[in-house]
Amino acid sequence: MIISFEGLDGCGKSTQIIKLKEYLERSGKKVKILREPGGNSISEKIRDILLDKKNLNMTNETELLLYIASRAQLVREEIIPLLDDGIIVLLDRFIDSTTAYQGYGREMDTDLINRLNLFATHNGVYFPDLTFFIDLDPRISLNRINTRGEELNRMEAVKFEFFEKIYKGFNEIRDKNPDRIVRIDGSSSPDNVFDKVKLEVTERLNL
Ligand code: TYD
Repeated sequence: MIISFEGLDGCGKSTQIIKLKEYLERSGKKVKILREPGGNSISEKIRDILLDKKNLNMTNETELLLYIASRAQLVREEIIPLLDDGIIVLLDRFIDSTTAYQGYGREMDTDLINRLNLFATHNGVYFPDLTFFIDLDPRISLNRINTRGEELNRMEAVKFEFFEKIYKGFNEIRDKNPDRIVRIDGSSSPDNVFDKVKLEVTERLNL
């Protein structure tokens, strides 16, 4: 089973993933968290290129293909073997981030992105079974990343309008995939958000 977490930077998905891993492990499951871009040595190198603030002249086309390349490697090198071993894979971002950031944010062709996402995931065989969209207002999200005391990476050092477009994107993706994607209000406390994640996972996995 593949469960992905999606949302704007600063929405709190990384905290939720760790909570879910601990919860599933307490229920006797084997679980692995992988992040995108990254999750293996080749994809981590691609991540460095993508997030390096010095790469200001990166074209949108290059950016899109690098995210897809990172995904193609992650699926084949990590995800498939993990699933074969019966391990639940939790993904910190996956296919929907490309549609939201490159499709809606960078205004690139979403049909092309769909095809590339299929290409990276063995024709969709490795699409997530379940996706949580942690819904946080773009203003709060930008505020959180600006006040967390870390330097902003290339994808975060952007204008508010970029975040607004991505946010609209995530909402539209969710509306198009209501069975796969569960939207959860990310503005309440991490424990409250996790209660909802837990409820959904408990039902779907018959825990
Ligand atoms: P990261 O620091 O991991 O952000 P976060 O902790 O919020 O997930 O950086 C990943 C960045 O890459 C993030 O800004 C979202 C962006 N991204 C895309 O633009 N397209 C993609 O396909 C993926 C996976 C991520």
